[in-house]
Amino acid sequence: MSKEEVSRTDFGEVVSSLPLIEANNEAEESIDEKVKAIYKHIIERSIEPIRDPRKMTRSLLERYKLIVDERVVTLVVAAFLAGRPVLFEGPPGTGKTEIGEAILTLWAGKPALVIPCSENYNEYRVIGDFHPLMALRYGFTEKSFIPRPLLAALLLDAGVLVDEIRRSNEEFQNMLLDIIDKRRIIVPELKKVFKARGDGFQIIFTSNPEDYAQTELSDAFLRRVVRVPFDYPPPELEYQIVKIRYDVNAELPSHIVKRMISVIDILRRKSLYKPGPADTVLWARIAGRLAYLRGKNVVEDRDVIDAAQIILYKRVGEEELVDEALSKVFSL
Ligand SMILES: Nc1ncnc2c1ncn2[C@@H]1O[C@H](COP(=O)(O)OP(=O)(O)OP(=O)(O)O)[C@@H](O)[C@H]1O
Ligand SMILES: [Mg+2]
Repeated sequence: MSKEEVSRTDFGEVVSSLPLIEANNEAEESIDEKVKAIYKHIIERSIEPIRDPRKMTRSLLERYKLIVDERVVTLVVAAFLAGRPVLFEGPPGTGKTEIGEAILTLWAGKPALVIPCSENYNEYRVIGDFHPLMALRYGFTEKSFIPRPLLAALLLDAGVLVDEIRRSNEEFQNMLLDIIDKRRIIVPELKKVFKARGDGFQIIFTSNPEDYAQTELSDAFLRRVVRVPFDYPPPELEYQIVKIRYDVNAELPSHIVKRMISVIDILRRKSLYKPGPADTVLWARIAGRLAYLRGKNVVEDRDVIDAAQIILYKRVGEEELVDEALSKVFSL
């Protein structure tokens, strides 16, 4: 079961994935065993942890195709060594989520758990809750408790990526503060305190302050995190990102990539929808596929322009702006 599936499954599905409970109702299954059963994929995909910033930077490039400044990696490692969580903050598509998840995975030596925040997130969604029917039968006990990703990460000594923290409510953020400070999770109904078992349990938050429906992060929250700002990459770096992420057989000539980046640069300055490197990469990949489907070995302007019309036309009313930027750089 992938982590997305785990976080989306409802009570029934999760419980049915716990054979011990079904096989023997009398079995006193500990929370640890449940975590190991539900999050088996985390344990099975363990790797050798990498904590040296230089080696981590190299591994991000080679294993994850992520180009990350060694300085950023070193800052994150320093924060983890000081027992502080990290906040990646910056515009969309600049790699915050993927880089955060990959760094946490390398640091802990096992896949990070991802918590995609939304307004109505609360402790029941991330720490654990009680299966209603089992709670009726057995009460609020370990038997009816279903551990969720944050508690699972603490018990498995894995990292947690709390994605889009500004989409969560203040109460949720305050709850996280307590966990961050004390490196432990309390489940009052079970009268239990779960403590972090090692230093693999680290948290990276991501946030995009310009996104819609944002809550302000409190000073108390900001005081506890190490904030690492993200920004659009300079053109040479964006060029490298497009090249490393390009995955089509049709050749994408360098002069075309450079012109695509010029168009992106104009849109970042002029349009309301500001494309991130993630958009530039997707634009190149779609252009490559169009060329391939048209039986060509090399991507041409026509493919790039057609791809632009599905990748860069984001907001109604901004199509003209996109066409204008394209016509400045390509011959339409
Ligand atoms: N430094 C980078 N190295 C490699 N790819 C990158 C980099 N930055 C951005 N990308 C591209 O962007 C994608 C990752 O974007 P990601 O979703 O992590 O960004 P984000 O900052 O979390 O965006 P959002 O704010 O929309 O969630 C990658 O799949 C890749 O195509
Ligand atoms: Mg993201």
